[in-house]
Amino acid sequence: MDIKKNYINGEWKLSVTGRTRDIICPSNGEVIAVTTESNEEDAKAAIKAAKEAFYGTGEWRRMPGVDRAEYLFEIAREIKANADELARTDTLDNGKPLREAEGDVADAAACFTYYAGLITKPQGGVYDVNNGFGPMHSYCMHEPVGVCAQITPWNYPLLMSVWKLAPALAAGNCVVFKPSENAPLSTIKLFEIFEKVGLPKGSANLVLGNGPEVGAVFAESDDVDMITFTGSTKTGRSIARAAAGNLKKVGLELGGKSPNIVFADCDFEGAVEWAMIGIFFNAGQVCSAGSRLIIEESIRDKFVKRLAERANAITIGPGLENPDMGAIITEAQMNKILSYIESGKQEGATLVCGGERYTEGGCEKGFFIRPTVFDNCRPDMKIVREEIFGPVLTVQTFKTEEEAIAIANDTPYGLAGTVCTKDGARALRVMKEIRAGIMWINCCQPTFSEAPWGGYRMSGIGRELGVHGLEEYQEVKQVNIALETGPIGWFAN
Ligand code: NAI
Ligand code: MG
Repeated sequence: MDIKKNYINGEWKLSVTGRTRDIICPSNGEVIAVTTESNEEDAKAAIKAAKEAFYGTGEWRRMPGVDRAEYLFEIAREIKANADELARTDTLDNGKPLREAEGDVADAAACFTYYAGLITKPQGGVYDVNNGFGPMHSYCMHEPVGVCAQITPWNYPLLMSVWKLAPALAAGNCVVFKPSENAPLSTIKLFEIFEKVGLPKGSANLVLGNGPEVGAVFAESDDVDMITFTGSTKTGRSIARAAAGNLKKVGLELGGKSPNIVFADCDFEGAVEWAMIGIFFNAGQVCSAGSRLIIEESIRDKFVKRLAERANAITIGPGLENPDMGAIITEAQMNKILSYIESGKQEGATLVCGGERYTEGGCEKGFFIRPTVFDNCRPDMKIVREEIFGPVLTVQTFKTEEEAIAIANDTPYGLAGTVCTKDGARALRVMKEIRAGIMWINCCQPTFSEAPWGGYRMSGIGRELGVHGLEEYQEVKQVNIALETGPIGWFAN
């Protein structure tokens, strides 16, 4: 097999290590590609290239936004032209159903289009000022931050790359990028597109490798001006610590344990379906998964029964066959989920459905888990407190609105939340009380390039997408202009 290479300063290069990594399809455990496996030296070479491109030639940063936009529009067109290949790549690499991967690719193209448009819109502001130093004009302008390092996870391989690359490039930054070593293939294709559309050398650099050897170097480097990361809280913390060295700007998206509050007056079948989308979409490997169902006691039995009935009917299999639910990314992640399921049983939660690995119909070599629901969960249980990142739902009940809100907020996370009720005033009242960055009312999971995405509390720092997402990748420069050039007579002499 061809070894997939790093892309540094406009050239495809093998790592200096000579090492490689097998890329595995989680649907059957087979090797589908081989990548070069980089180390600190490769990471530093990429950072150097980005630094020279930004502070040296400065071609990308100096280019007017409307001209950068042309590149981004072209990238969006190329993503659409290669949509089938990109979707199949993510399906094979990540294990997700093809139709989910197709949705990701469409969103990826839309995200580049969005930021291409946004960068041409008015930015900054003009201030009407007076401070006694004579007539002045004050305004502010937005500039790129500089060298941005970006690290992504494996759950939305292409889309997470695009959420970071599109705004960073639109703003005029130069980027060093490390995709997850568990699913790097669609990002490699994206960089082939960057090469094809002729992004200036060094403006976007790709380093393939693992976290400790490449990602940590990005986080520590004094030559990196900003680091953005999506992934686990543990790694997010280590990045924040490493970033303190040169006080680089930090953006973190760290997942959560998002509540789905369902009131008795909800649209019953609708709420059941959204609860399923909330936890079984992408096999629950979603930062914003609605992993805690908090349901009004009066409909609990009926709701959980219906949920289990439908969860048991979910089709499971290789992504290319377009099942309802695909595989878990790696054997290790699968075993981690299974150990959470074991702890749920140990701690006395009631297993309503699933609860085991799925090996039927040729799935025995893949990493599949049955849709799992635990009823009678207590707030102190590990399965209620920790992010499982798999198709495992916990159920807790409430009697009053206040109780529902208290249970929902009983978490150190704050990424997202859902409220299902036909009472509009109550939906808004409860939504407002939930400490989270993203709220869904009578739905769960839809995401848009236009709207800011990110968490409160331990779910992270900063926002991706939307206008906020662009501003994260920008510095703000205040500019003050004296409207008269003569002396102002400040000193006595
Ligand atoms: P991880 O956070 O270790 O990996 C995510 C990315 O960070 C990968 O590109 C990895 O190579 C990189 N990385 C790892 N260690 C690093 C370090 N010391 N410095 C810099 N970069 C580093 O997540 P992992 O191990 O793949 O999954 C573990 C758990 O993380 C999951 O079970 C889930 O709970 C959570 N997670 C959350 C995601 C989210 O969307 N918020 C996405 C993926 C995982
Ligand atoms: Mg893979």
